[in-house]
Amino acid sequence: MARSPRAFVLRHTTPRAVPGVEHIRLQLSDDVLGTWRALQLETDDPDAPLPYWTAAWGGGQAVARYLGGHPDTVSGRRVLDFASGSGLCAIAALRAGAARATAADIDPFAAAAIEVNARANGCRVTIVRRDILDEEPPDVDVVLAGDCWYEARLAARVTPWLKRVRDSGIDVLVGDPGRRYLPVEDLVELATYDARTTSELEDIECRQARVYALRPAAP
Ligand SMILES: C[S@@+](CC[C@H](N)C(=O)[O-])C[C@H]1O[C@@H](n2cnc3c(N)ncnc32)[C@H](O)[C@@H]1O
Repeated sequence: MARSPRAFVLRHTTPRAVPGVEHIRLQLSDDVLGTWRALQLETDDPDAPLPYWTAAWGGGQAVARYLGGHPDTVSGRRVLDFASGSGLCAIAALRAGAARATAADIDPFAAAAIEVNARANGCRVTIVRRDILDEEPPDVDVVLAGDCWYEARLAARVTPWLKRVRDSGIDVLVGDPGRRYLPVEDLVELATYDARTTSELEDIECRQARVYALRPAAP
């Protein structure tokens, strides 16, 4: 583990406005791969996870834009931002009037980035640092899930958990730029936006990202 994840975040990113939601500024990097190499050295761990927290991913951008245009979705409500990364969706929810926002991410550097980003945007976000996908649905009104379907193993756990969340009466909002493992058959599209990628890992700079609700369970 690095001596200070917060210091690492600040050293390897710069404050930038998020495309489409320019009132939100995050610590971002154009060089995710370079930051990844620095992270591997800093943590002495060649298997350190990719620093997803250095980018505003298409799914998160779409959710953030949707909340800006549809604040009633979260206004006065308790929100969980699952797989929060930079904290973008949690911050967007609070800026749209959410009563409280919790951000869940298993990456300790994401937790540090969320803390820095929340403070810079005048928000207070509670951070959950453990994997909650085997737990009961959280005690919130809305769960946001931005860009969680980029990897088969994660996708295979997120979708059934979100269905349990939905079945317990919690609203679920998904944001995604067309990732391979997105379960489109389980989703109802709500909105489409142009998302400008902030990571060199995407093969195209601009792609469409969609916001979805989970389809209601069959009776
Ligand atoms: C592509 S990023 C999306 C970040 C953010 N939602 C956005 O759209 O910009 C995926 C995030 O999922 C997190 N993640 C992966 N597995 C997780 C799990 N089991 N629980 C919570 N977060 C997880 C990663 O650490 C990473 O920050």
